Amino acid sequence: MRAVVVTGASAGIGEQFARQLAVAGHHLVLVARRLDRLEALGSELQERHNIQVVCIACDLAKPSAAEELVAALAEKQVEVTGLINNAGFGDRGFVEALSLQRQLDMIQVNVTSLVDLTWRLLPGLKKVANSFIINVASTAAFQAGPNMAVYYASKAFVLSFSEALHEELKGDGVAVSALCPGATDSEFASEANMTETMLFKAGTMSAEDVVRKALAARRRAIVIPGLKNLLLVWMGKLSPRMITRRLAGILQA
Ligand SMILES: NC(=O)c1ccc[n+]([C@@H]2O[C@H](COP(=O)([O-])OP(=O)(O)OC[C@H]3O[C@@H](n4cnc5c(N)ncnc54)[C@H](OP(=O)(O)O)[C@@H]3O)[C@@H](O)[C@H]2O)c1
Repeated sequence: MRAVVVTGASAGIGEQFARQLAVAGHHLVLVARRLDRLEALGSELQERHNIQVVCIACDLAKPSAAEELVAALAEKQVEVTGLINNAGFGDRGFVEALSLQRQLDMIQVNVTSLVDLTWRLLPGLKKVANSFIINVASTAAFQAGPNMAVYYASKAFVLSFSEALHEELKGDGVAVSALCPGATDSEFASEANMTETMLFKAGTMSAEDVVRKALAARRRAIVIPGLKNLLLVWMGKLSPRMITRRLAGILQA
C-alpha cells in the first residue's frame, strides 16, 4: 500500500490533514497515542472515500518510537509517499516552574522524533515521484517565547531544519515544507494551558483552513496560513528581537 503518514492524527490539525488527504484519494497511516480515536477516524474515512487506512498507536515521547514506527510500516508493507510530522504539544509557564520531564518530552516529540522519523523515511521518499514532507512548526518559530521557552525553541528548530532540508532535497524531487500556523482551534490551547491568554482570546483560525493552505502550498519552503499570521511574522521581522520576545511574553502571560 502507498500511503501518507500523518503523526498526531487523533485531533486538531493532524485530523484535518487526514480528512483532506482522504478526500484527495490518498491511503493513510494515522499515528498518535489515542488508538480509539484513530480507529474511529480511520473507519469513517475508509467508508466515505474508499481508501485504505492503517492506524498505529505510538508515543513519540519514547526515544525508540520512530524506529518502532518505521518497523511497523515495513511489516505492513507500506510504501510512504508523504510524511506529515504534525504531532506536538506545548506548555505555558516559566522553565523552572514546569516539570523537567514534560519539557524534555516536548523536545523529544516536537524535535527529536521528527528528525528521527524524517531520517528513517527519507531513503524511501526519494524513490517516490512527487513525494513530500510537511513539518508543522508555528509562528512561534520566529521569535523567543518567554513563558513557553522550550516550545518556542522547539518550533524554531523545526523551521530551520525544514528550510535546510527543503534546499537539500530540491534535486531529489522531495518537497519539504515548514507549516507555521498561528493560534488555531484545536486541543492545543487547553493542553498547553493557553485558553485564557491574549494570543488565543484574540481569535483562532480553523484547523480546516490551516490544512487547506498547507496542502495547496506544500512545494513552498515556508507556509504561514492566514493574513493576520503573515502580517505578525513580517512585523516581527522588521522589529528588534528585544521587542518581539517581550511581545510574545505579553501575549501568553
Ligand atoms: N493549535 C495551535 O494554535 C497551533 C499553532 C501553531 C502550531 N501548532 C502545532 O500544530 C501541531 C498539531 O497541534 P494541534 O493544534 O492539532 O493540537 P492538538 O489538537 O492538541 O493535537 C496534537 C496531536 O499530537 C498528538 N501527540 C501529542 N503528544 C504525542 C505523543 N507523545 N506521541 C504521539 N502523538 C502525540 C496528539 O495525539 P495523542 O494525544 O492521541 O497522542 C494529537 O493528535 C503541533 O505540532 C503544534 O505544536 C499548533
